[in-house]
Amino acid sequence: MRFWVPLALLAVVALAAACVSTGALTPGERLVRSKCGACHLRPEPTRLPPAAWPAVLDRHAGRVPLSPEEWSSLGAFLSGAPGGASATP
Ligand code: HEC
Repeated sequence: MRFWVPLALLAVVALAAACVSTGALTPGERLVRSKCGACHLRPEPTRLPPAAWPAVLDRHAGRVPLSPEEWSSLGAFLSGAPGGASATP
């Protein structure tokens, strides 16, 4: 019986750590990770200046099937807006 207590604690800690590491991603970052590494290396937000992203994403409209909401959170993440929110004030 005593043997199971530390094991159970370990499982709880591991589960919490897993939640923290995935929960920290914004919706936009999650989209980039899942959709943008198929044809080339996954692009980082720092790859281009913020103003350059809209044109790149426009060119990708026919390449990557995403909803308008997904495009906007993805664009917000890539052009550096915090929390995947809209970049316009
Ligand atoms: C279906 C294949 C495909 C997918 C999926 C894809 N790309 Fe691309 N990407 C390309 C091709 C082809 C090019 C080179 C031509 C161009 O720049 O439009 C490119 C180029 C780029 C460039 C370089 C542009 C430049 O001017 O330096 C960036 C940045 C980029 N992609 C971002 C993304 C992002 C963000 C996503 C996810 C939404 C994505 N890509 C998903 C095919 C893809």
